[in-house]
Formats: sequence, C-alpha cells, structure tokens
Amino acid sequence: MQEEKFPKREWQFSLPSSFEWKEYPQEEFEWFVRELAKRFDIDLSSYKPHRVKRRTELLLRKYNVDYKGYLELLLRDKRYLDEFLDKMTINVTEFFRNPEKWWELRDEVIPLIAKNSTKLKFWSAGCSSGEEPYSLAILVHELGLSHRTKILATDIDVTVLNRAKEGVYEEKSLVSTPKEYVEKYFERVTSSRYKLKDFVKPVVEFKRHDLLRDPFERDFDLIVCRNVVIYFEMEAKNKLYERFVKSLKIGGFLFVGSTERIFNYKELGLEVYKPFIYRREK
Ligand SMILES: C[S@@+](CC[C@H](N)C(=O)[O-])C[C@H]1O[C@@H](n2cnc3c(N)ncnc32)[C@H](O)[C@@H]1O
Repeated sequence: MQEEKFPKREWQFSLPSSFEWKEYPQEEFEWFVRELAKRFDIDLSSYKPHRVKRRTELLLRKYNVDYKGYLELLLRDKRYLDEFLDKMTINVTEFFRNPEKWWELRDEVIPLIAKNSTKLKFWSAGCSSGEEPYSLAILVHELGLSHRTKILATDIDVTVLNRAKEGVYEEKSLVSTPKEYVEKYFERVTSSRYKLKDFVKPVVEFKRHDLLRDPFERDFDLIVCRNVVIYFEMEAKNKLYERFVKSLKIGGFLFVGSTERIFNYKELGLEVYKPFIYRREK
C-alpha cells in the first residue's frame, strides 16, 4: 500500500482545491469531544470551548471532512492525533520572556530562596520547548547555585518536550536574551540556529504532565506557570492555582504570565511580592 502523504507539521493551513467554508453544528462538536474522552482519554472539558472548536474546525477544513470523518482520521493514523494535540496547545515561548521579570528573579527572588533553602526546588509548569526552564537554569548557574538546584519542567505535549530535550533553538527564541548569555550558554549551529550548551542541562528534568489531571509534587520554592492558564475555563484556572499554592513551601513563590494577575490571591493564601510574582503566606 502506498504510504499516505502527510502534510508538514508547521502552522500552515494550506487549503485543498475542493475547499469550501463550512459551518459545523454545535452538537457534532460536543459529540466529538465526548468521543475523544472515550476513545483516547483526552479531556478537553476544562479548555475554553470556543477556542477548541475553532481550532478543530481549521483542521476539519484542512482535510475537508466533518467531525465524524475527522475522528476516523485520528483513529487511523497517530500522526493526525499528534497534529491535533499540537494544534490544541499553542507552544509559543522564548528565553527570558518579559525580561525585566526575570531580572527580578535573578536579583531578588532566587537569592532570597537560596538564603532560606539548602536545596532549591523549582517547577516550570507548561514549559513548552524548554526556553522557560532553561532560562531558570541559566540564572541559577549565574548565581552559582546549580549544584543545589533541581528544576522540574513539565508539559502535556510530548512533541515540544522532545524538542526541549534537544535544546536547539531558532534565533528568534533569543530576542530577549542578553548577548553575554547567548555567548556563554549557546553555540551557533547554523546561521540562524543555536544549541544550548550541555553543561546547562543536567539541572532540568523534563516530564510529560497534565496540569488538569495529574498529581502535583510538593515543597517547591518556586513555581513558574506562565501563559498556560489563558486557555483554561475559570473554574479549572482557580482549581489549578489552589493546587499550586499547596505545592509550594511556605514562603515559596509563584511566577505567572504578564497578563495573568491573580485577583483572589489573598483567599488563596498568597501575597503580592512583585507584580506577577506571588508568595505563599501560610
Ligand atoms: C504558550 S505555551 C507557554 C510556554 C511558557 N510557559 C512561556 O510562558 O513561555 C503554553 C504551554 O502550555 C501547555 N499546556 C496546555 N495545556 C496543558 C495542560 N493541561 N497541562 C500541561 N501543560 C499544558 C502547552 O502544551 C504549551 O506548551
């Protein structure tokens, strides 16, 4: 049998010549979500539904199928399933995203943690292709703390985790990285690609982990969860923050994305240490 031709994995929706812009009924979408849960154990119920629907329907249009036909594709070939999961989770990230916040971590937060803990335990939750946990790894190296730091780095998407372990990045991932860090921690492998130097990696452990379903480790000094909860329904987001607080040591820090202010921080037992950096009080 001839191998089925599979399209490129990038963000590209080239439309078939037979393309026609269809509307898909809500009931069919709800049926599809139930089938995903039943057949693949994929639970999308905590994600914003209009977003899931919109992104799924781009794929339906790409393959010119309805929800039933698309489910058949997912059942037939794992590459379709990988593509689907990849499209559900936007993996956009970079080293030192919102750099001024990272310098607050380097100059104030991490030194404070190092004063109070002998072993430093960090978690980058929703780490995508590794830029975030490796940014932490670079900072702890700068502060001479690598030998007593462990950074857990988790994501639901195995494709990005594999990329993270490789540690090779396009130049655009480094736009916010100071030149001296680029020179010290990266080597250029092609005209536009950089490889993270191996000595930075051992403090980071990558693991697949679903923030909405899997158990959390405890006793973290710092949890970084940025630009992940934007995809979650309010209830799932609140539950997640409650669980993060329980996973922090007392006095531990939670660093969130620069659009993700936590309004009920007091109720959760947090105080604002700096904008977007919270601290567990009790
Ligand atoms: C936009 S990226 C953010 C990456 C990084 N934290 C940053 O701010 O640059 C969002 C990441 O969240 C992950 N994600 C989405 N849902 C998740 C879940 N339920 N559990 C764990 N990770 C999830 C996605 O796979 C994606 O890699």
